[in-house]
Amino acid sequence: MQLLLLLGALLPAQARYDPTWESLDARAVPAWFDELKFGVFIHWGVFSVPSFGSEWFWWYWQKERRKPYVKFMEDHYPPGFRYEDFGPLFTAEFFDPNRWADILKASGAKYVVLTSKHHEGFTLWGSKYSWNWNAVDVGPKRDIVAELAASIRNRTDLRFGLYHSLFEWFNPLFLDDASNVFKTRTFPTSKSLPELYEIVTKYQPEILWSDGDGNAPDTYWNSTGFLAWLYNDSPVRDTVVTNDRWGAGSICKHGGYYTCSDRYNPGHLLPHKWENCMTIDKWSWGYRRNAQLSDYLTIEELVKQLVETVSCGGNLLMNIGPTHDGCIVAIFEERLRQMGAWLKVNGEAIYGTKPWRAQNDSSTPGVWYTFKPKEDVVYAIFLNWPVSGTLILGEPKTTLGRTEVKLIGYKEPLKWISLEEEGMIVAVPQLTLSQLPCQWGWTLQLTNVN
Ligand SMILES: *[C@@H]1O[C@H](CO)[C@@H](O)[C@H](O)[C@H]1NC(C)=O
Ligand SMILES: *[C@@H]1O[C@H](CO)[C@@H](O)[C@H](O)[C@H]1NC(C)=O
Ligand SMILES: *[C@@H]1O[C@H](CO)[C@@H](O)[C@H](O)[C@H]1NC(C)=O
Repeated sequence: MQLLLLLGALLPAQARYDPTWESLDARAVPAWFDELKFGVFIHWGVFSVPSFGSEWFWWYWQKERRKPYVKFMEDHYPPGFRYEDFGPLFTAEFFDPNRWADILKASGAKYVVLTSKHHEGFTLWGSKYSWNWNAVDVGPKRDIVAELAASIRNRTDLRFGLYHSLFEWFNPLFLDDASNVFKTRTFPTSKSLPELYEIVTKYQPEILWSDGDGNAPDTYWNSTGFLAWLYNDSPVRDTVVTNDRWGAGSICKHGGYYTCSDRYNPGHLLPHKWENCMTIDKWSWGYRRNAQLSDYLTIEELVKQLVETVSCGGNLLMNIGPTHDGCIVAIFEERLRQMGAWLKVNGEAIYGTKPWRAQNDSSTPGVWYTFKPKEDVVYAIFLNWPVSGTLILGEPKTTLGRTEVKLIGYKEPLKWISLEEEGMIVAVPQLTLSQLPCQWGWTLQLTNVN
């Protein structure tokens, strides 16, 4: 008895969370998420069939009656064609999850988030709760979530995550609840919550990327009840990471890490862990057949997003939209592989870093800092090659005889001199393009600076 009491006092009780924001918000975001920094978002679903405008196709066509969407349907589909008729055309015949896994791995991403269900309500897994509107019964006749999870886990060290939309634009149960000002809760109790428990139990995602509150409060969704289960009793309770989109008003305020808005990139340090989710196609998350080359962000622009984001304490979640037949088209594959090539050289300034005391530098625009506290190394990532041959860094405080500066991927330490006041001028080697250690951004490794 005494021994048991003693043990009870020594062993920390497994923290249990109450279904309140106060309790749930106190859970620290599991450390792996901050360390991995970079993930790939995948928007795939029935919206990939019309592949026109955006993944909001159904809403813009049927609800808002936007001209280009209405005209597109009139011009190319027979009268009476319904959105549901796109379902069987979501064929995925080229979907090779091993190939996807290999491309994702080559991108340097350390996690992936797949849209298990977008606002259209079509589930990419064989959900018990989405009768005849899921990828096993309609279209591919395959469990896309299961297949991608298996390939990712078998072939890569990426963590597997799932996006899930709470509301569905046109689900009659949701529309009923909405017309009752969410005083009834038929939709969450019979659809969205059972689905959430189902995907967590079946696929054990380590990121649950919630979205689409449909202007209903978290009490309608019972988000706190679900999250308490997720953190206390689910198979992923120790490692799972969630975001902040759990009901009207919860974004940027409650849940796990903050997303705040799409393409959120504040340019300054935030006290709470956050993620910049953005998409390579500037105008859409889902694939658009009629996208122009100039609609895609360049690799320079993508590296800039990554560097700014990480420097300010965020993670980058960079989106691609596969085609209805299951291809990651060459432009997305190229961007992913370019990012991987850049990270292969500069990854030590990204993965596992912390924000430094300064994020950027007023002396030279386009310089962003990251930090490895244990090694006491500061990284200065610069997004423009200084053709002048020198780089002015106003932030690092140097010590003559101690401070060392290296260009990552270049053999010799660089020469530098102290600025009169503070900071330093670094002499950058005169290299031709082919001699540069990489393109699109370079990293100075600074040791012994303050
Ligand atoms: C896992 O990958 C290996 C080789 O990469 C392959 O031989 C094996 O069949 C795969 N297993 C599954 C379950 O996909
Ligand atoms: C919310 O979810 C929790 C955990 O599953 C459950 O115990 C509780 O009854 C639910 N509350 C409502 C109002 O549905
Ligand atoms: C850092 O970057 C932000 C956002 O780009 C900018 O507003 C700010 O002026 C920069 N700060 C310094 C010190 O250069």
